[in-house]
Amino acid sequence: MALKLNNGLLMPSVGVGCWMGLGVASADCYAMVKEALKIGYRHIDTASNYGNEEFVGLAIRESGVPREDLFITTKLDQCDHGRVSDALNESLAKLGVNYIDLYLIHWPQAVISGSSPSDGPCRFSYLSPGRVLQPSESPTIGDTWRDMEKLLDSGRVRSIGVSNFSEKTLTILLEDARIVPAVNQVEMHPLLPQHSLLAFCRAHGIILTAYSPVGKNKFSSDPDVVRIADAHGVTGPQVILSWGVQRGTSVIPKTSNHERLRENMTFIYLSVEEMLVLDRIHEKPGMHRSICGFHSSDLGGSCFGWTYEQLGWSMVEGGVMAH
Ligand SMILES: NC(=O)c1ccc[n+]([C@@H]2O[C@H](COP(=O)([O-])OP(=O)(O)OC[C@H]3O[C@@H](n4cnc5c(N)ncnc54)[C@H](OP(=O)(O)O)[C@@H]3O)[C@@H](O)[C@H]2O)c1
Repeated sequence: MALKLNNGLLMPSVGVGCWMGLGVASADCYAMVKEALKIGYRHIDTASNYGNEEFVGLAIRESGVPREDLFITTKLDQCDHGRVSDALNESLAKLGVNYIDLYLIHWPQAVISGSSPSDGPCRFSYLSPGRVLQPSESPTIGDTWRDMEKLLDSGRVRSIGVSNFSEKTLTILLEDARIVPAVNQVEMHPLLPQHSLLAFCRAHGIILTAYSPVGKNKFSSDPDVVRIADAHGVTGPQVILSWGVQRGTSVIPKTSNHERLRENMTFIYLSVEEMLVLDRIHEKPGMHRSICGFHSSDLGGSCFGWTYEQLGWSMVEGGVMAH
């Protein structure tokens, strides 16, 4: 199964996600990607700030799968908005490939590293010091997107897109865009279904990719999920991922477990009624929420230095933030 991007390129509907969690050895990522490629995954989602592109690259080379059969996504770090071309070259070198299928702006906020060289390189804004630029400061979203567009001409990327963009930040980007993003990757699962963003992206020819697509397995025991899973003889995560694929989005679940890797690439066909039940799970009291924590009320109404208003995220019933 694959989705056709707005440039004609096909992106497999399911990919393996390579964010392994803080402090997890990159060798785990190598083992996961190697097994994933062995059992048939052809879409890999990584990012420069996951710190494991070299290990993904090693697994790819050892797999023997021809490069042209793979769909590789990686992401521009927040600290690299002012050096897009150089950052891409670094990712290419680490992955050991000469082009990326999909290169995403990881977050709309740009971060500049500490003020002196002794502060070290800027890695990831919530892990290391750096100043988050406000939306009007350069490089703005528009500045960074123009540099992303130039990459297409160089042949080093086949498609460009964004991640963690809302209708608001996409609208800002589209104002001056020569190229419409092929993909927007956001947190998405039945508790945060992103119905409105999905409609917006469809109207603009942008495919949505779901990150945390099994909701980190935090609501697979929901009675509706269990009932549908039992009716089909599958697991809760398979129901949740099938919902994601069936609504025309791509899913990039992460699992280091070999059995679950197979499970996550085996989908079922859900009836219209079952799709509707899953579409509405977030309407149950207390269920509409983000699981990743980027939209948590603990963050005091901002995420990586921008307010929810600047990010285009809105308050939903119960005081929980959603896109
Ligand atoms: N663009 C962004 O800002 C962004 C942010 C977050 C994530 N992502 C991408 O999205 C990918 C996936 O997101 P995620 O890791 O946050 O969430 P996820 O894929 O929804 O969930 C991963 C968690 O669920 C467990 N799991 C996976 N499949 C399972 C199954 N079939 N049964 C039971 N448990 C299962 C995994 O544990 P085990 O490993 O033990 O199976 C892991 O703890 C990441 O790896 C990354 O590539 C992107």
